[in-house]
Amino acid sequence: MIGRLNHIGVATPSIDESVKMYRDILGATKFTEKWSMPEQGVWVCFVDLPNTQIELIEPYGEDSPIHGFLAKNPKGGQHHVCYEVDDIIAARDDMRAKGCTILGTGEPRIGAHGVPVIFVHPKDMGGILVELMQKPEGH
Ligand code: CO
Repeated sequence: MIGRLNHIGVATPSIDESVKMYRDILGATKFTEKWSMPEQGVWVCFVDLPNTQIELIEPYGEDSPIHGFLAKNPKGGQHHVCYEVDDIIAARDDMRAKGCTILGTGEPRIGAHGVPVIFVHPKDMGGILVELMQKPEGH
């Protein structure tokens, strides 16, 4: 069963430009540093909001999985929604038993928060790419 909404993933052609928008137009004040996750093919930066985070993702390298998304959405756009789960392996097995497609090998990868994550195909999730993430300590 899903828990808290952890973050909303937003693809952008430029994290720097997106940070300006969140800061100067929307008035957000808390941002992480931008860092690269070469294995995932993304630059990442989190915008901290009172009840959740926005995960800004920008392509890193030519094989980035979000090049295709940005080709269809050149200005960027809402890319995925991430929910916390108590047990990522149990959640994956449950989703599979219910007929859902887990992206990639299905083995959890370490996500931007340093905990294991999986992605569930949008065709099974009402058109939304869903990230499930092992609940971090303290959440
Ligand atoms: Co995410």
